Amino acid sequence: MTIAQARSAPLVAIVGATGTQGGSVIKALLESDKPYRIRGFTRDVSKAAAEALKKQGVEMVAVNLVVENNEGVAKAFAGADYVFLVTNFWEHMDTTRESSEGKMLIDAAKAAGVKGIIWSGLQSPKNISEGKITRVVHFDGKASVSEYGRVSGVPFVVVQAGIYASSLLEPAIARSMLEKQPDGTYVLPWAVRPSTIVPLIDMANDYGLYVRAVLERPVFPDGLDVYTSSENVTAEEMARQLSEGTGKKVTFKQITPEEFIKPLETLGFPPVATDSLQGFWEYFDEFGYYGGQVTGLEGLARPTRTFAEFVKGSDWSEVFV
Ligand SMILES: NC(=O)c1ccc[n+]([C@@H]2O[C@H](COP(=O)([O-])OP(=O)(O)OC[C@H]3O[C@@H](n4cnc5c(N)ncnc54)[C@H](OP(=O)(O)O)[C@@H]3O)[C@@H](O)[C@H]2O)c1
Repeated sequence: MTIAQARSAPLVAIVGATGTQGGSVIKALLESDKPYRIRGFTRDVSKAAAEALKKQGVEMVAVNLVVENNEGVAKAFAGADYVFLVTNFWEHMDTTRESSEGKMLIDAAKAAGVKGIIWSGLQSPKNISEGKITRVVHFDGKASVSEYGRVSGVPFVVVQAGIYASSLLEPAIARSMLEKQPDGTYVLPWAVRPSTIVPLIDMANDYGLYVRAVLERPVFPDGLDVYTSSENVTAEEMARQLSEGTGKKVTFKQITPEEFIKPLETLGFPPVATDSLQGFWEYFDEFGYYGGQVTGLEGLARPTRTFAEFVKGSDWSEVFV
């Protein structure tokens, strides 16, 4: 569809519009036959991703979504009916900053009088493990924002992101995930049991479908928690499908969380990140990525992409080198 300009169409304001999650939400709304006005945020409206969105009719607004600019943030949300909120922990790796910014975004949306907030939260390993695993700050920071949103008085839905299938395509990350062996085959060394269920999501293609399904319910489903996935596969099956789709031999190997973070330390990841990731693997192996919650949502507008389809449709030339 083309984006609606009529004021009767709901205005959806999207944080992270130029990024993976926000971009996926915009793609899904553009696919809808329902009319939407879409406002996207970026710090730089001249960047290619912002220009491309403008060409599709998205109103792109330049704003720095930081606590120091809370007045600017409130103005940016003015007139919105719904907002999609996400924070990017990995840009600064500061959990206090991530939770303050998430809460500030909720306050700004509330002040703007929106009818509903959709927040990209994650589980709380600290709560799920009953205090045993406390260092997964890139999850617990987001979980604290979810708690804040649930009592904000504004209808609030959390749409949690599964594990990005696309992470396997990013050479810097993939090289720590896919180890080339002397015989030319590859090992996928993850710190979980081979039978662990991995809720893989093709973010660009499928995450927005879940957000769209929430927006297109007859009544905004206040209090709903959504656990996204394109397909749930076991860790071992993931390696098998990678082999089948790429023609490279990939074997799954269970390693320890300590072993997993070693190459990241070499790549220069700071202790806050490696510590959080180490705790993540401990949590994931013992409790599951979503802490045992069921993935999926009724009413998705089209089927999600299987991992096999993702593998076949992706260019792996930079990864298997
Ligand atoms: N990788 C995984 O498996 C996984 C799984 C679940 C959750 N996550 C979470 O996903 C989050 C990242 O989301 P993503 O993948 O969509 O990130 P991304 O592709 O890197 O995009 C980040 C977006 O945030 C915007 N942004 C960041 N800081 C901003 C600021 N100060 N003001 C305005 N806009 C700002 C960027 O806009 P501009 O740069 O254009 O300004 C960009 O659009 C992380 O918090 C991570 O923990 C990741």
